[in-house]
Amino acid sequence: MKREPLCPAFDLDKAARAGLLGQRPAVLWFTGLSGSGKSTIANAACNELHARGKHTYLLDGDIVRTGLCRDLGFSAAQRVENIRRAAEVARLMVDAGLVTLTAFISPFRSEREMARRLFAPGEFLEVFVDVPLAVAEQRDPKGLYRKARRAELPDFTGIDSPYEAPASPDLRLDAAGRSVAFNVGRIIDAMEVAGLLSPPDGPRRP
Ligand code: ADX
Repeated sequence: MKREPLCPAFDLDKAARAGLLGQRPAVLWFTGLSGSGKSTIANAACNELHARGKHTYLLDGDIVRTGLCRDLGFSAAQRVENIRRAAEVARLMVDAGLVTLTAFISPFRSEREMARRLFAPGEFLEVFVDVPLAVAEQRDPKGLYRKARRAELPDFTGIDSPYEAPASPDLRLDAAGRSVAFNVGRIIDAMEVAGLLSPPDGPRRP
């Protein structure tokens, strides 16, 4: 169900803010296993967008879980709530006119679809950062897979908690076989095709 505009009684709306910023607000919703490279690729994509004059913000699971979501763990219900909050914050950021990148495992298809429904058509791109579990586990940048295999970390995604890979993401990145720079190029291309790098409709900066 599509929701009403956030602040119908306020004079300034998303289009006015986006016009002043000279950009089209959007969400790039990165999903993938822990260690797949979501944060690394999202960070590099932010840099590229920033260099192109776009106002961005990167919402990252590891960081959001130290503040807004610090009361949440990794049960299925807590992950659902984590993604609900993340999606609502992304919605506010898009309403503020920003190009918003999110990097959460977001393992459940239904929550990613819930997130998509918060945005206007064409404003939300699901980016699947695809690596085989064996590659993520071999990288193990934080040593968490090792802990999970020793049963010291319960409910670990890919080990004893599911990851539902997107069936038809807007963009699938091969994050095992391709470089970060190559994948950033694919993101920029996808944004161009989606019209997200064009000037905004409506009034411009005076
Ligand atoms: S999500 O499933 O709710 O989307 P989120 O992206 O916020 O997860 O957080 C994932 C990060 O938390 C991982 O990159 C990892 O550093 C850390 N983490 C700690 N415990 C777990 C766990 N049981 N499963 C997955 N990630 C975990």
